[in-house]
This record gives sequence, structure tokens and C-alpha cells, in this order.
Amino acid sequence: MSTTNTYESISNENRKFPPAASFAANAHIGSMESYRKEYNKSIEDPHAYWAEVAEDLHWFKPWDSVLDDSSQPFYKWFDGSRTNLSYNCLDRHVAEGRGDKTAILWEGEPGDKRVLTYADLLSEVSRFANVLKRLGAHKGDRVAIYLPMIPELAVALLACARIGAVHSVIFAGFSSDSIRDRVLDSQTSLVITADGGYRRGKILELKKIVDAGVQDCACVHHVLVVERGGDEAIDCPMQNERDVFYNNVSAKVDAVCPAEEMEAEDLLFLLYTSGTTGKPKGIMHTTAGYQVFSYLTAKYTFDLQSDDVYWCTADVGWITGHTYIVYGILQNCTTQVMYEGAPNSPDEGRFWEIIENYKVSIFYTAPTAIRAFMKWGDDWVTKKDLSSLRLLGTVGEPINPEAWMWYHTVIGAERCPIVDTWWQTETGGHMLTPLPGATPTKPGCATLPFFGIDADVLNDDGESVEAGILAIKKPWPGMMRGIYGDTQRYESAYWSKWGGQYYFPGDGARVDEDGYIWILGRVDDVVNVSGHRIGTAELESVFVEHAAVAESAVVGVPHEIKGQGLIAFVTVIEGQACSDNLRNQLVAMVDKSIGKFARPERILFSSDLPKTRSGKIMRRLLRDIAEGRELGNTSTLADPSIVENLQLQFQQGN
Ligand code: WT7
Repeated sequence: MSTTNTYESISNENRKFPPAASFAANAHIGSMESYRKEYNKSIEDPHAYWAEVAEDLHWFKPWDSVLDDSSQPFYKWFDGSRTNLSYNCLDRHVAEGRGDKTAILWEGEPGDKRVLTYADLLSEVSRFANVLKRLGAHKGDRVAIYLPMIPELAVALLACARIGAVHSVIFAGFSSDSIRDRVLDSQTSLVITADGGYRRGKILELKKIVDAGVQDCACVHHVLVVERGGDEAIDCPMQNERDVFYNNVSAKVDAVCPAEEMEAEDLLFLLYTSGTTGKPKGIMHTTAGYQVFSYLTAKYTFDLQSDDVYWCTADVGWITGHTYIVYGILQNCTTQVMYEGAPNSPDEGRFWEIIENYKVSIFYTAPTAIRAFMKWGDDWVTKKDLSSLRLLGTVGEPINPEAWMWYHTVIGAERCPIVDTWWQTETGGHMLTPLPGATPTKPGCATLPFFGIDADVLNDDGESVEAGILAIKKPWPGMMRGIYGDTQRYESAYWSKWGGQYYFPGDGARVDEDGYIWILGRVDDVVNVSGHRIGTAELESVFVEHAAVAESAVVGVPHEIKGQGLIAFVTVIEGQACSDNLRNQLVAMVDKSIGKFARPERILFSSDLPKTRSGKIMRRLLRDIAEGRELGNTSTLADPSIVENLQLQFQQGN
């Protein structure tokens, strides 16, 4: 666990910030008594609790049972029901007279703007759904989505949900190779992309990246291309038959498309994420449970009110965007800002300008972004009017108390509660989080479990301890239902830790005197770089592809802005040179296989890696080296001189 720094700083943290009385007075959950009352109800009688929540939504057919836990860990929620998530995000609001409410206030990086009401969104989504049907997409087919942060990204997800196609969104920072792996693993028949998108003033030519990715994928019948370019022509080669411009087809289809009646456990989406092996996992989420959980967590964690303007800065390519840009937020009929580009384009004031212009009231971002804002300086912030803000949120990694305090003081003007939300791709929605009108917050702490979440900190034997491993002891509606095509990995990665009883998220945690849970970081070989999850094994398998490389071990280390960075230790085959040239080639391989965001901070070469006599790489020692710590116990090493050499090399900055 490379969490020493976080652990030290948070273990001395005892400041406490109760919500302001004025915030609590109008909040959905306005006191700790009401949190506890509702929480107890949700744990004691989950069936009654979740049934009552689900009543807020539309069902074509009601459920027979709320939770079927007869086949653990293959749980079923709302079994027997029929529903549609796109219907609950759109049609329900239009039918109930809320069609004129603004859904999306979109701004492109170059400054172009679009506004869509819920009624507009319904017709865009219906049209898009009809285009998908025209291209042969059916219920159950997998559709990959590789788009910039334009309204069509949200529209594409909803259109898939509408016809029952399974979306698999691939974040537009992933490489061609990553697209290929995901498309093949899920046997995707249709890929939706754009000619390009804007990032820091530059055009990203997305269609070309897709072309390279799918060139040998026989399963892909069509590539549907949204034209983002506008006036500026983006180079976008098209292949006859296979490739289709969205606008050419959309003009020929109807803007009405009835929502498919989906079964509760029909697959809604796949989202690939990293684990402890070299192969990313296609996390499966299904319809009804995810629908209810995303709806309720969004409503309570963000205390959504009818006049809020919400803004989540994540990309829809990650789970945060799926749940808290698309499904959770739209089900609550909230107005939101969606922004395409970077926070420092054209300058470091862009985010604060957006908040001022759109009068954003709820702002949800990541610790890594907050640390970058701190570095850029307060002037960018104080020049703007941020008085519309009433609530702040953070997600993605543990937030250090210093960044929390800056967020609280400089962005929140000491007025806005901060919700530090702990959750995962696998959990579908918030698991540990303050409720802003109730929970007194502590800097760096995700505080208490959400309704229905039975969280505990356990040791390896499954006993409750003060510091150990986070466990979730009961199923919840938003939980993953499996790994696509790999049932065995689902059971072994998530359910084998405590004899199949409890869900194992892979995070270390500590409980304090108030029962608050502090997340300490991953306990497995997964590293969190700027909130992006990267398996060290994924990078290692990239490096060993190189003919000159014999072996590699990658570890995570604390990083000032990114939270964690990656340090790679690489051994070369005898007779091969450890040159800068080789280093550059290895970096280029990371770019190609995963994406630039997975680049290591440093690559160190050596003749061997520290190993036990039985040949096991001692990662603990590599972490000691990479974090500049004294070496731990080296007595079990086969050859202690290796680690000493590496340490010297690291200190010399090689
Ligand atoms: C891992 C999940 C949830 C959407 C973004 C990341 C870490 C996430 C927090 C937080 C401490 C956090 C955990 C978790 N994490 N939020 N508030 N405090 N750690 O989703 O890629 O599935 O990663 O991110 O380590 O296991 P993800």
C-alpha cells in the first residue's frame, strides 16, 4: 500500500465542519437524526426501503421481488419488472410537464454553446436511437462509444439505453490498441465516434484513432461518425459501406422512438477498468438496480433541488460521468453544465468563468484538479464571482486535507459543504459520502455509508478492526453484476477475500472515534493516477513486449498533483543497451497500448530486480526505493546488492 503520506496527514486530522443551519433547513436530509433514521431503515429492511425509492420512477411492469439473493454473489434486483432508463431520464419528465426545463448547458472548448431542454434531449435521443436501429443495432448488441465531451456523448448513451443496446464507452484519451482490445472482448458491432474534439486548443482526430483500432476487428459492421468540426474541417477519412456520417442518416429518420421495455437484469452497459492483471475488465451494470441507485445517490448526495445548476467536470468516459452526468442527474431532472475541454484553456480561469457565467450551484471535481488549481494560484479564482455555489464535491482518490481546506476556503468561501464521495466503477454510485445537510465533514474523509450500504473495516480473517480493509457486507442495487465473459474472475477478484461473503473493493481504510471511515488507498496492485485507475501489471506487460526487455515491475508512488505516479523498473536482456532511446521507445509503447495518461514518471534500468530466493519480486522494496524511504527488511533477498544499486541509481536521478 503506498499510502504512507496520506495516512500520516489524515491521522492527525481532527477538524470538523458541520453544515450551516441555512443549508440544513432546506436539505432533503437535514440532520444526523434523519440520516440515522433513514439509514437504519435501509439496513434493517432493504426490501421495503428500496421499493419505496423505486416508486418515484416509471415501471412498465412492477417487480416481483426487490432483491433475490438466492444465488450469491449473483444478485438480482427488482426481478420481474420492466423499465427503461432513457424513459426515466427523459419521457417521464416530458410527460409530467417538465419538458421545457433546461437539461444541458453545453460549452465547447473553443467557446461554442448549445442549450438542450429535456424535450429537446428526448427528440435528439429518439432520433439517435432510430439511427442506431437503421444501422442494425438491436437489443443486447454491444455498441462502443468514443466521443469528445459533446452533447452527442450523453445522447448516444441514452439512445443505446432506449433501444436496449449495451453501451461500452471508451474514454477518448485511450489509444487505438485499447479500442481494439475492448471492441474484441465485447464483440462490438457498431462504434460511435466523431471526426474530432478540442483539447487545449488542439484538435484530437478521433476518427483516425478509431480506424487504427478497428481495422482488424471483423465484428465491427459500422462506424457512425458525428461531425464535431463545424467550420474548421477535421481530417476524417471514411471507408465506404462501413462508415456513416450521423447527419446523413439522422435527416432520414423520425424523432420519435418508443423506449424498449427492458427486463430488470438486462445488461445496460459495460465499462472497462483496470485490475491486478494485464487485462482490463468489462464491468457489467444492469438496468433496474443501477437505475434506482443512480437516481437516489444523485438526489441525496448532491441534495438536488429544482433550481440547481449542477456541474461535474469528469468525462462521460469514466463511471463518474455515466452516473453523475447522465443517468443519476437526468433522472432527477436537474439542469447541468457540460464542458468539452481543459481547465486551463485558453487560461487557468476557465472553470471559474464557467461557474460565474452559468451560475453553477453544485460543483463536482477531482482532488488532482483541485491540487492543480492550488498550484495555479488563488488569483484566477478570486477575480470571478463564485457566489452561486452552494455545494462542492470530490471523487476519484483520497483528498489530502490541505487540498480539502483550500477547496473549502478559496472555492467554497467557507460556506459550501464538501461531499467527498468514495465509490468505484464496480459500485455504480456513491458508497461512502457525507450528506451535505446532515453530516459534519472532516478534511480528507469520505465519512459514512450511504443508505443501504453496510460498510465495515476488516482484517484478513473478517473481523472488524480499526485499520484494515474496507468491506461491503450486503448487496446494494447499483452493484456490478459481473465481468463480461469472465464469471470466474468476478468471483475471485471481488468475492473470494472473505469466503464469498462480502464484497472486496480493494481499498484500505480506518475507522475513527465517530465511526467515520477514512479511505487510505488501494491495497492491491492498482495505482490511481489523477483519478485514472491503472494496473501495474498492464504497464509491465507493455514493457515486456519490447525485444530488449527481460522483466519489469511497476509501482505507484505519491505525486504532488496526480495523487499517485508510476515508477517503472525494467531489466534488459544481456547485451542490450539501457539508453534514453530505449526509454523513449518504452514510453511510446505505453502511449500506443494504453494512452498518454498512463506514462510512468520514471523508468529505471537494472540488470535484475530484487527477488526472494524463491524468485518472487519484492515490490515492497521497490516502493521503498521509489518513495525515497529507508529499505525495509532485505534479509530474504537472493542478492541484496541489486536493491542497493537500484537505490543509488534512483537517488542519482538516472
Ligand atoms: C477507486 C475506484 C468513483 C469514480 C472515480 C474512480 C479510489 C475513488 C475516492 C474517494 C478515496 C477514492 C478508490 C477506489 N477512490 N473515490 N473519494 N476517496 N479514494 O473510479 O476508476 O473505479 O476507481 O478510486 O481507490 O477503489 P474507479
